Amino acid sequence: MESESKLQTCFGGDITYTKYYDVLKNASVVNFKRNKDLIEITEHVGELQIQHGKDMYREITQLNMVDTLTIDRLVRMNDMIGNPYHHKIAPGIQECSPNSIKYVYYGLLAIRDILEKKLQDIEFVEIGGGYGGQCIILKELFKMFGIQIKKYVMIDLDNVVKFQEKYVRAFQMQHDCVFIPYETHKEYNFHEQSYLFSSYCLSELCDSVRREYYESIVKNTSHGLVIWNNPFCIDLPKDYKEIPHSCKDIVGKFLCF
Ligand SMILES: C[S@@+](CC[C@H](N)C(=O)[O-])C[C@H]1O[C@@H](n2cnc3c(N)ncnc32)[C@H](O)[C@@H]1O
Repeated sequence: MESESKLQTCFGGDITYTKYYDVLKNASVVNFKRNKDLIEITEHVGELQIQHGKDMYREITQLNMVDTLTIDRLVRMNDMIGNPYHHKIAPGIQECSPNSIKYVYYGLLAIRDILEKKLQDIEFVEIGGGYGGQCIILKELFKMFGIQIKKYVMIDLDNVVKFQEKYVRAFQMQHDCVFIPYETHKEYNFHEQSYLFSSYCLSELCDSVRREYYESIVKNTSHGLVIWNNPFCIDLPKDYKEIPHSCKDIVGKFLCF
């Protein structure tokens, strides 16, 4: 594969990961949530994201799995590093990044699925985890819900996994985490009891990279949750069901298998 094709997305044209990939190479965790070259991909916050945060907060409360104090604690934990912009999302919680609410919501959907399927000792595999926020919130949720995992495997572009490692280390949560660059991921021996998680990544990769993952990981993974935002196709090679929700204008579908 040509070196640059790994940076393309399903959206085509100028919509690539190039700038994000270059900037993350040497980024520091201290202020990155305000870096204009990074926020498009990791921490974009406009009116729409604030509305998503409010909708997702409502969905979280309807799941009835965690109380308000816990939601507040989880989002504040993720907001502690990277200096995000804060917004008022709900009366019961302090101002926060709506992205942290998203990580709690998608994290809880994965937790609910794992509990319903009674999965234990799994390798949790996240493809395209952005800066790493989903990982630290999920690791906290695993602890709270008594779910044992063997490893939390994060796969992303080489510069990005290096940054994810810095972020997760800043919380001293690197224990049990494995950081795998996309560029060498085929050398990794994926455990057959893996749970696949990917939000706004697997689906938005260009067709050739997405199919590489189907072959190397998805084919051998029995369960997972994929937040699907490819507007052109749904070609996930799994018998999936769609999780219903009432969030307005969310781009994408929540596919569970
Ligand atoms: C839109 S972001 C989603 C980030 C995060 N999951 C979230 O929901 O906030 C897309 C992610 O896909 C990652 N990505 C791009 N190419 C990739 C590849 N070939 N393999 C794995 N991840 C890739 C990007 O680096 C980024 O982390």
